[in-house]
Formats: sequence, structure tokens, C-alpha cells
Amino acid sequence: MKRKLFIVITAMLCALVFVFAGCSDPEGQQGQNDQTTPPSSVIGQGNVLVAYFSCTGNTECIAEIIAEVTDGTLFAIVPEVPYTDADLNYNNSDSRANREQNDENARPAIANEVEDMTSYDTVFIGHPIWWGDAPRIIQTFLESYDFSGKEVYTFSTSGSSSGSGAFNSLSREYHDIDFVENLHFTSSQLASAQTRVQNWIEKLGIMNNEQTNRISFTIGSATVYATVYDNSVARDLVSRLTLTLEFSDYNSTEKIAYLPDGSEDWDLSDAPTSCTPSAGDITMYSPWGNLAIFYRDFRLSNGLVPVGRLDDGAIDLFSAQDGNFTVTIMAV
Ligand SMILES: Cc1cc2nc3c(=O)[nH]c(=O)nc-3n(C[C@H](O)[C@H](O)[C@H](O)COP(=O)(O)O)c2cc1C
Repeated sequence: MKRKLFIVITAMLCALVFVFAGCSDPEGQQGQNDQTTPPSSVIGQGNVLVAYFSCTGNTECIAEIIAEVTDGTLFAIVPEVPYTDADLNYNNSDSRANREQNDENARPAIANEVEDMTSYDTVFIGHPIWWGDAPRIIQTFLESYDFSGKEVYTFSTSGSSSGSGAFNSLSREYHDIDFVENLHFTSSQLASAQTRVQNWIEKLGIMNNEQTNRISFTIGSATVYATVYDNSVARDLVSRLTLTLEFSDYNSTEKIAYLPDGSEDWDLSDAPTSCTPSAGDITMYSPWGNLAIFYRDFRLSNGLVPVGRLDDGAIDLFSAQDGNFTVTIMAV
């Protein structure tokens, strides 16, 4: 028992360390919640709801990525009484969080409401792991709405405990709800959250297909975004995604990569035949068939097809790379 307690406490300490490191999110912001200012709900489109409860930002980071990838509506479950640091002190057996977890009837009140739950077919519910389980406020949330006919996925974060215990107890207790599966992140897995979430959502088949003009570039644990243009080469690129490519420097001006299968048969049927690239432009050089991402401005070049443009500031990630580096390009 003492050993188990030690393991859980060590796990929680790891998690706290991670909170201060932050987790990479699409906007490059730290996902830390301000205890006094609840995050507002962001209205998206489609029929996916991404609801989450997060006190120190880890679960919020994952929620934001899921919402971006699915184009879902992000909904922060805001407790009526915010949790203070003292409330979250798991070392104190009488802290609010510990008391709630020990009381199976505790249902902490929620301050906000999902506007129209009937409009969602798919609901993601995210939470931290508290003593191996979901915080009781998740039960408040589950008991506040009718989930019949909806597919419910959960996602969770912890120091190092698994998420399956919480998923199994929620599925057991709310057996009328169609809980499909859980994606769990320990603190050491948060840095690769973007790739894991995208692979998961792709596997589930609920990628946001309407927004195929947005793509992401992941280098290590960092992800940046870009918009592709409406031309045949850009559409061709999107249709080949997900791609993992090896980039190298060219002429101290651009980072270039060839398709892994060596094919250079890009669809040029409806694309410009030249452009004058500036830093941040994504292009394809048709004589060689390589992608070229410019981090410096360059002159008008024949055969250079404009494919898209990185979001503001995103080019810094490319210009900072030395030597060869691996990039995963995905549709978002
Ligand atoms: C009351 C409490 C209990 C916790 N219990 C566990 C646990 O059993 N296992 C674990 O690995 N981490 C545990 N943690 C750490 C959290 O699961 C982890 O920090 C999580 O990522 C926090 O998510 P958030 O930033 O979204 O609030 C606990 C944290 C608190 C506050």
C-alpha cells in the first residue's frame, strides 16, 4: 500500500514538473489555466464537441489539439467554485480534491453549459487523472446531458498512471453511454501530443475533411501550421498526406525535400508556372520535383510553383534547423 502511494505521489510530482514545462500546442502558448479566469468556450463548426476539465493546463493542451484536428467545438468545463492550489494539494488528505475523490457521491457544480448538446454526434471528454480516476466533476458533466446516440471518446493526462482505470470505471458506471475509447497521455508523452492526436483522430476517421487547405508541419515536438493554395500542386500535396520527409538546406535560402518514393509526378495541370518566393512560402520546384520552403526572400523563378504559406512566425522553426531534419506534414 505504502509502495503504491509512493508510486502515485512520484507520478504526480512528475506531472507538476511538466506543468511548468508546458506542452506544445497549436498556438505555441502555455496551456496553463488561470484559476480565477475560466477559459471561455470557443465556437467551432461541425458536430464534434471537445469538452474538458483542466486545472493546470495539461488536459487543455490536448483538448485544443483535438478541437483543431476535428474542427470541433471546444468547451471548458468550468467549476462553479474554482480549484485553488490548496484544493489540489494531493499530499493533504483533507484537501478538496482528495475529499471529493473519496466521496463517491460528490458532484462538484459546473458554472457553464453546453449550448446545444443535441447538435453533437461525437463528444470527446478530457480530464486529468486524480488518484487513478476521473475527477468527480466529470460525473457531474455526464449526468447533466443526454448522451444517447452519441459516440463518446475520452482523453486524459497524468503524471505516469494509465488512463484505462478511469475509462473502465466511467464505462461501467454509465453503461448507457457509448464510451468508445480513451487516449491517455502521461507527462512524458505530452510533447508528442500533436502527432499522437492526429494519428488517433485519423484512425477514428473523424478528421475534419472540410478544411483541407490547412496543413501542419511537425519537427520534433514543435508543430506549425500553414494554408495551402487552391491549385493542382497544392491539392496533390494534400492528397499525399500524411508525409514524413527529410529536409536539407539549399543555398542558405530554402529548406528542400523530395517525396519519399522518389516520384516527381506532381499534378501541374492547374498551377502557376513561376513565382517570386518570400520567406514563409511553401513551393514546389517542378524541374526537380522537390518541395522548397523559403526562409529568405528570393527572385522570380521559372518552374517554381507556389503551394502555400506558413502562418506568421512559423518559418523560424525551419530557419533554426541545422543540417538534415525530419518533418511530418499532415492535413488538419
Ligand atoms: C488530486 C490529484 C490527484 C492526482 N492523482 C494522480 C494519479 O493518481 N496518478 C498520476 O499519475 N497523476 C496524478 N495527478 C497528476 C495529474 O493527473 C496530472 O498533473 C494531470 O496532467 C493534470 O492535468 P491538468 O493540468 O489538465 O489539470 C493528480 C493530481 C491531483 C491534483
